[in-house]
Amino acid sequence: MPFIKQQDEKIIFAVESSCDETAAAVLRCRGDNAEILSDIVFSQIDIHKKFGGVVPELASRSHTEVIDKVADEAVGRAGITFRDIDIVAATYGAGLNGALLAGLSYAKGLAFSLSVPFIGVNHIRGHIAANYIGAALKPPFLALAASGGHSSVILVSGYNDFTVIGSTLDDAAGEAFDKVARVLGLGYPGGPAIEKTAADGNENINFYKHPLKSLGYDFSYSGLKTAVINYINSARQKGELTAAQTADIAASFQKAALDMLTGSIMDALKAHNLDTLALAGGVAANSALRERLKKLSAENNIKLYIPPLSLCGDNAAMIGAAAWFKFREKGAAAFSPLSLNSNPSLKISEDA
Ligand code: KG4
Ligand code: ZN
Repeated sequence: MPFIKQQDEKIIFAVESSCDETAAAVLRCRGDNAEILSDIVFSQIDIHKKFGGVVPELASRSHTEVIDKVADEAVGRAGITFRDIDIVAATYGAGLNGALLAGLSYAKGLAFSLSVPFIGVNHIRGHIAANYIGAALKPPFLALAASGGHSSVILVSGYNDFTVIGSTLDDAAGEAFDKVARVLGLGYPGGPAIEKTAADGNENINFYKHPLKSLGYDFSYSGLKTAVINYINSARQKGELTAAQTADIAASFQKAALDMLTGSIMDALKAHNLDTLALAGGVAANSALRERLKKLSAENNIKLYIPPLSLCGDNAAMIGAAAWFKFREKGAAAFSPLSLNSNPSLKISEDA
């Protein structure tokens, strides 16, 4: 049966390949609605886990090998054909350069072959846009973005108006989870492993020596990371790193990391006269973080938006949603030239 499109409706095909997930999605978009028709994610965990982290060269090669299959599957599951696509979108930064290039080049080639416009998308703006899918969220709001490469507090004044009011001074939150998990021998990816191990532990170790408020809306994870690693090494030397102790370290680290991430967020909302908070990025999958923000938001009369688990980690549906809200506001000015290059260190405030 041919795919029937309503008037004003656009079919967006999106690609994401900034790190270790090859993803493609099809969205049917109209007005405030960005509806997912398909959302395919191929995870490279099995490729990288024996190395304890993402190996950039292997990530790029795997993206190049599977993107064609992942794209075909997204189109097939959506019940459309490539000819039904109105706009192609892809992440062009931030991320690993070779990984970005694999998806970006595929997407630009596809847009060219279909003679449709192309939109380059900022990865973190994509994570934030995951909150628009199937939800009533509209700017202005504050976004708390925490992933493997970013930890930021962002004032979202409009669909295309982003101001960073706080960010990490050193490591990202997800990076700290990954590093501590690796030293504890819990494997990769670290975030889910820490969360699982923490469930059996007690939050009885205090890794902070200084009061947290001194950082304003910024974050710092390197001091915490070092304190936890030193603690682990010393316990290991003394032969005290039992399963119970490992669980206590994971629980205490997780609590400290979340204290850092959420400590000033309610103050930031009040200072900017905002009553809406959206959580974004891979760390948003953490259930202790989700519960803590639900409680804090309820106590402070804040409307909280958290993406479903399937849209917290890297995916292409969020990239399609970001492209749609960019296009809806800017029209043809949202389109990117086919000369758009990857930008591994793209800032949240920058866009093509
Ligand atoms: O957004 P994302 O999938 O990729 C990047 O853009 O970096 O985020 C990945 C990060 C990793 O550091 C991973 O350990 C962390 O998100 N993460 C978690 C959880 N699930 C993923 N951190 C804490 N708890 C989790 N459940
Ligand atoms: Zn991400």
